[in-house]
Amino acid sequence: SRQRLPGRLLRRGSWRPKMPTPRLLVLFGSQTGTAQDVAERLGREAQRRRLGCRVQALDSYAVNFWRFIFRKNLPSTSLCQMDFAVVGLGDSAYTKFNFVAKKLHRRLLQLGGSALMPMCLGDDQHELGPDATIDPWLGDLWEKVLRLYPVPLDLPVIPPGVPLPSKFTLQFIQEAPNPGSKESCLASPESLGPPSESQPFLAPMVTNQRVTGPSHFQDVRLIEFDITDSGLSFAPGDVVLIQPSNSAAHIQQFCQVLGLDPKQYFILQPREPDVPCPPELPQPCSVWHLVSQYLDIASVPRRSFFELLACLSLHELEREKLLELSSAQGQEDLCEYCSRPRRTILEVLCDFPHTAGAIPPDYLLDLIPQIRPRAFSIASSLLVHPRRLQILVAVVQYQTRLREPRRGLCSSWLASLDPEKGPVQVPLWVRPGGLAFPETPDTPVIMVGPGTGVAPFRAAIQERVAQGQTGNFLFFGCRWQDQDFYWAAEWQELEKRGCLTLVTAFSREQGQKVYVQHRLRERGPLVWELLDHHGAYFYLAGNAKYMPADVTEALMSIFQEEGGLSHPNAATYLARLQRTLRFQTETWA
Ligand code: 2AM
Repeated sequence: SRQRLPGRLLRRGSWRPKMPTPRLLVLFGSQTGTAQDVAERLGREAQRRRLGCRVQALDSYAVNFWRFIFRKNLPSTSLCQMDFAVVGLGDSAYTKFNFVAKKLHRRLLQLGGSALMPMCLGDDQHELGPDATIDPWLGDLWEKVLRLYPVPLDLPVIPPGVPLPSKFTLQFIQEAPNPGSKESCLASPESLGPPSESQPFLAPMVTNQRVTGPSHFQDVRLIEFDITDSGLSFAPGDVVLIQPSNSAAHIQQFCQVLGLDPKQYFILQPREPDVPCPPELPQPCSVWHLVSQYLDIASVPRRSFFELLACLSLHELEREKLLELSSAQGQEDLCEYCSRPRRTILEVLCDFPHTAGAIPPDYLLDLIPQIRPRAFSIASSLLVHPRRLQILVAVVQYQTRLREPRRGLCSSWLASLDPEKGPVQVPLWVRPGGLAFPETPDTPVIMVGPGTGVAPFRAAIQERVAQGQTGNFLFFGCRWQDQDFYWAAEWQELEKRGCLTLVTAFSREQGQKVYVQHRLRERGPLVWELLDHHGAYFYLAGNAKYMPADVTEALMSIFQEEGGLSHPNAATYLARLQRTLRFQTETWA
C-alpha cells in the first residue's frame, strides 16, 4: 500500500502523506501454513530490499476481515490510494478452486484499489506444487514494486546467501524454573470463556478403540474425550481442533542432531519490539517443550526452509547442495528429494548433519514452522452424550520410496495414546464446521458419507433422533461389511425403530465396485421426491479426491432423469440448492 497503515484507509481523511518509508502490508489467511509461508517469504524479500513491511494474519489485522471488507456501506473510493495484489492458494480438486482469492480480488477492485498484478492462482495439484505458479508471479511483482519504491541508494540490498536477523533470541538459563510453576500455559480452570486456540482444553481421553477389522488395510479409531466442565459446546456439523505433539523418539533424535540439551531452559525474546512472542510457549520454556509442542519437525519442509538453512550452513559441500535445492532451477530436484517422497524436516536435518549441528538456536523458530492444529468432524451429539466428545480418526500411514513409512502427525499421535495405561490429556477446542442442519422440524435430510465421512452424520442422526425428528436418510459406503462398517449395530437398531433409512454400498463385496453414488442413482425417484416435494437438505462429507464430484454428477443425472430437467436447468437447480444451504459439503484431502 502507498499508505502507511491500510487499516485506516477505510476511514477517510486519515491518510498521512509524509511517511518515512513506504509500507508493504502482507496479509494472509492460512490453514495449513502454506499461505503464511508465502506471506513470510514476501516479508523477507521486502526486508532484503529495505522496504518497510508488515506480515500479519487477516483476522489479527481486522476482526473478521472478511465481513469487514464486505460491509455494504464502504464507499467505492475506499481503497483508491491503494495498490494491491492477490495470491490464492488452492487445490483444483475442490470445486470452488481459489474462490476466496477471486472474490477478494473483485472486491478490492470494487473498493477502488488498483491491481498491481493479475491474480495468482496457486494449485496444490500442480506437479511441482503451488510454487511453480507463484514464483514467476512473485518475480514480476517485485519488478513492479521496486519501480514504485526503489531500493534506497544508501542501503544496499541484502544478498540472498546472507541470513536476515532471526525473529527471536533464545537465551539459555542455567536453572530450571521452580518445580511448582507450570511449564504449560494451556487452559487453567480459572480462565474465562470457552476453550480456544490460545486456551485449549486439556481433555482426558476415555477410549481409543480400533473400529476396523483386524485384516483391514486401515487402522481407524473411535476416540472419546471427557469434556466435563470444559465449557465446550457444539452442534452437529461442528469440528474439534486438536493440537498434536511430536513423538518422544523424534524429539530425542532432533535434539541429538542439533546438539541441543532437551532439559535446558531458555527465555525467548523478540528482536523487534512489535513482534509478540508466541503465546503458546511458556517463559521460561524447556527445549523439550519447544520441540514437542511447537516445532513441526515431522512436516515436509518448504523451500524457505532450504533457503534459510543454506544461509546458516558453514559446511561447504552441504551449503552448496542446499543452495541448489533452494534455487529456482533446483525446484525439480527439491520436489524429487522432498515433496514427492514426503521427506520430513527431521530427515533432511539428518541428511545435512554438519549444517544441522551448527544451527544457531535463535533461528529455530524462523526455520521450522509451528505445529498446526488438525480438525476432525465431531461424531457425537451433546444431547445423547452430554459430557463426551467422539471422533473417528483414520490413522494416516503410507509408503513412499523412502524405507520408513510416512505417518500423519496427529492421527499417529492420537493412536499412540493409551488411556488404559494411565491418564492421557489432549489439548482441544471446537469451532463451527461447514455443515449446518435444518432446525425446522421434520425437514428430511439426505446424508452421503462414505468412510470416515460418516462422522458428522453420526452426530446429526443422534441429535435428530433424540429430538424426535424423522426423515433421516443415510447413504454409507465402505469396503467390507465386516471390516469398516462403522456403527453398524447402532444404525441397524435405529432402522428397526423406524428412525433411519440406511442405504449401504460395500465397494468390494462383488466383482464390480459399488459406491454411494450408484446407490443414489438407484434411489433416484426417492431422492428427487425428497428434494423437490419435501424440501429435503442434502449433505455430503468425506474424501475430497473424486467422491464429491462423482456424487454431484449422480445428483445432476437424477435431476435430469427424475425431474425431467435439461442439463442447464439441472445445474441451476443444484446452484439454487447450494445457495439456500440445502446442499452442503464437508470434504477433506
Ligand atoms: P474403494 O476403496 O473400494 O475404492 C470408503 O472409503 C468407501 O468409499 C470405500 O468403499 C471406497 O471404495 C469408496 N470410494 C472410493 N472412491 C470413491 C468415489 N470416487 N466415490 C464414492 N466412493 C468411493
